Amino acid sequence: MNILGIETSCDETAAAVVEDGVRVLSSVVSTQHTLHERFGGVVPELASRAHIENILAVTDQALADAGLSLSDVAAVAATTTPGLIGALLVGVTAAKTLSWVLDVPLLAANHLHAHIYAVWLGGTRPELPAVSLVVSGGHTSLFRTTSELSHELLGATVDDAAGEAFDKVANILRLGYPGGPAVERAAAGGNGAAVAFPRVMLDAAGADFSFSGLKTAVLYHCLGQNVSKGDIERAHYTPQFVADAAASFQEAVVDVVVEKTCATAARCCASSIIVGGGVAANARLRERLAQEASARGLALHLAPRNLCTDNAAMTAGLGWHLLRAGAAAPLTVEAEP
Ligand code: KG4
Ligand code: ZN
Repeated sequence: MNILGIETSCDETAAAVVEDGVRVLSSVVSTQHTLHERFGGVVPELASRAHIENILAVTDQALADAGLSLSDVAAVAATTTPGLIGALLVGVTAAKTLSWVLDVPLLAANHLHAHIYAVWLGGTRPELPAVSLVVSGGHTSLFRTTSELSHELLGATVDDAAGEAFDKVANILRLGYPGGPAVERAAAGGNGAAVAFPRVMLDAAGADFSFSGLKTAVLYHCLGQNVSKGDIERAHYTPQFVADAAASFQEAVVDVVVEKTCATAARCCASSIIVGGGVAANARLRERLAQEASARGLALHLAPRNLCTDNAAMTAGLGWHLLRAGAAAPLTVEAEP
């Protein structure tokens, strides 16, 4: 059974076809990075407009890559929440229209649950219950997962998401956008112990995170406490200074994320750990998670790297489970930020 997935929650216009919840027949992602680059972050109005311009071509391409036509689509799944409201609306409206015209079920996928589902798309069947970490540009959240569709929120960031911190630190270090891959590349030549950045909430009970103080610590380290607007644009750093700051920042994020995730999994007596979301593409995070999970005897399931950042294959895959569970959405379903 072929599910067409549509994902427009942030700055990627994506469509994919997935057969029976696991076989990815096509996955097309049109990124808007060049559009948002000069602003150092996603501009919601520009994102919505670009989604409108791209959605038809991306959907057509996903069908063509799968060697299918619209009549082969058994149901249409769209990300309905959470995300930028204007961006979500484009994908949800496209999916509703296709569902109505083709007379096939509409499926409303939660974007965070879809990031978790990326692990199943990688071909594994995680041992449940699991503790699932979604670490992305908009979220850093831990869930207790008991099935593909059941996720209980255990904790989340109280301020910035980890990916947002990567993007802001890339901006401070003048590394470009999106920040995560740029910081990771810069960090490769640096010393992760060069600067002792804070590990905020590392020892706090519970499963919450905080990354805003870390971002400010990087700013003060680079430009001093009396930093004013315009200082970042005028900053000149040596390549080694950038590499050391990037590596030390990355190490601080990884320390907190790894420790919180493993401690939460142990506390919840989880059978495994699941990790998805854009920041889960980070090689240092993947390496440290693997080390720590193994040291604590916990099974670890990382989303495949190419399915960590936003894509519609995870949306379509999750949609198949919604369909099987009889959880089709009415055409009146709303996008929710
Ligand atoms: O999951 P995603 O595509 O979108 C959201 O749902 O937010 O995640 C995007 C985030 C961005 O903040 C980006 O900088 C970060 O993931 N990211 C990374 C890496 N690749 C993407 N962060 C660290 N290392 C990476 N290799
Ligand atoms: Zn995402």
